[in-house]
Amino acid sequence: MKTIKPTEPIQTRGNLDKVVIENDVLHLAGWVASVDAGPVEGFKIVCAGKELTEFVMALGLDSPDVEEMFPNLDCSEKARFHINVFLNEQQQEQVRNSLIVLTPLFEGRKGCLLLDLLEPSLPLPDSDLRGFIGANVNFTDAAIEFLGYFLQKGGLKPTENVLDIGCGAGRMAYALAYYLAPTARYEGFDIAQPLIEWARQNITARFPNFNFRQVDIYNKLYNPDGTLQATEFAFPYEDETFDFALLTSVFTHLPSEEVRHYLDEIERVLKPGGRCLCTVLLHNEESQKLMEAGKSTANLVYQIDDYFATSPDVPERFIGFQEDLLMKWICDRGFTLQGKYYGDWCRRTEFTSHQDILVFQKDCSFVSRMRMFPKKIYRMFQSRNMNEKA
Ligand SMILES: C[S@@+](CC[C@H](N)C(=O)[O-])C[C@H]1O[C@@H](n2cnc3c(N)ncnc32)[C@H](O)[C@@H]1O
Repeated sequence: MKTIKPTEPIQTRGNLDKVVIENDVLHLAGWVASVDAGPVEGFKIVCAGKELTEFVMALGLDSPDVEEMFPNLDCSEKARFHINVFLNEQQQEQVRNSLIVLTPLFEGRKGCLLLDLLEPSLPLPDSDLRGFIGANVNFTDAAIEFLGYFLQKGGLKPTENVLDIGCGAGRMAYALAYYLAPTARYEGFDIAQPLIEWARQNITARFPNFNFRQVDIYNKLYNPDGTLQATEFAFPYEDETFDFALLTSVFTHLPSEEVRHYLDEIERVLKPGGRCLCTVLLHNEESQKLMEAGKSTANLVYQIDDYFATSPDVPERFIGFQEDLLMKWICDRGFTLQGKYYGDWCRRTEFTSHQDILVFQKDCSFVSRMRMFPKKIYRMFQSRNMNEKA
């Protein structure tokens, strides 16, 4: 099996602020700037899976706001762009309710994708449901931001099978639904019944290859009446089913024993060569200093066993791990780390997203899989004992 190594884009920042069809023209406006690769030279535009080639663009427009926010980016004072794509009626029908992907090009190299949904027909969960997962204001923004990471940092292809662990109301599924092919399988599970109910009624109803399931696992914050323990829960999927697993803001609410067990299960259900992208809060020298200076948005000051929490009474509110220790748990299971991207949760100045992001891959070499064999046998006996006890 071939190892998928996503081609890392060059470091850029940007945003697609306007995506609208007016008078047979698709208007795309926003800004983009690179860390050290000069100004943007052009774009590749893909909409509803098809490349659009008939467009005119204006680059290098004034952007005092971008310059103020990101003075260190190359040409941040001239980072705005405007693109007009001419569409006939048939094309307009095709691009409505679809995903738009802009690849900025710098000296022929790709920058980070700029994505948006044009007139999506999927409804949003109400503010109570969004509030429950802490996404009242940024539901679609986060969905689109992470789709970019899945594609460029995780190498996700439209035909691959995806597992969304702790999927909530399907925030990630919201954007994935516009990217994955109808033949790709998406499975999401979560412990909060109302979220899963919403996702089933609204996402599965429109995208039947998207399945959601509730499991009644205890979590003091999200499901205090849950009857199952996360550490004893076998993911309800066959071995080697998925190409890609994701956990957005889930390991940030699980104690370490549960994280280690979930890593075991991820290793089991991923195909050889499969990747996992998860967000975490990494406790390291830099984040510790920022926390001590009172700058961090999450103060992981309570050490409980081998993890850190912001609250001693409800540790599940926010949990972080010593970076080296978490890396060891990941490597112990035979995964190879592919990417580590620090976030601004502790208010560092150079960052990718809000939380820290890790991407790791299940090894596909025969030798390393044989190395994992004794651990697998041990785990099999463990789960058999648990089933016998139950
Ligand atoms: C901050 S929310 C993130 C939800 C979703 N991943 C997203 O990005 O919108 C954390 C989610 O983790 C879920 N969760 C907590 N403990 C879990 C567990 N042991 N297994 C699966 N999901 C869990 C919660 O119910 C909640 O939906």
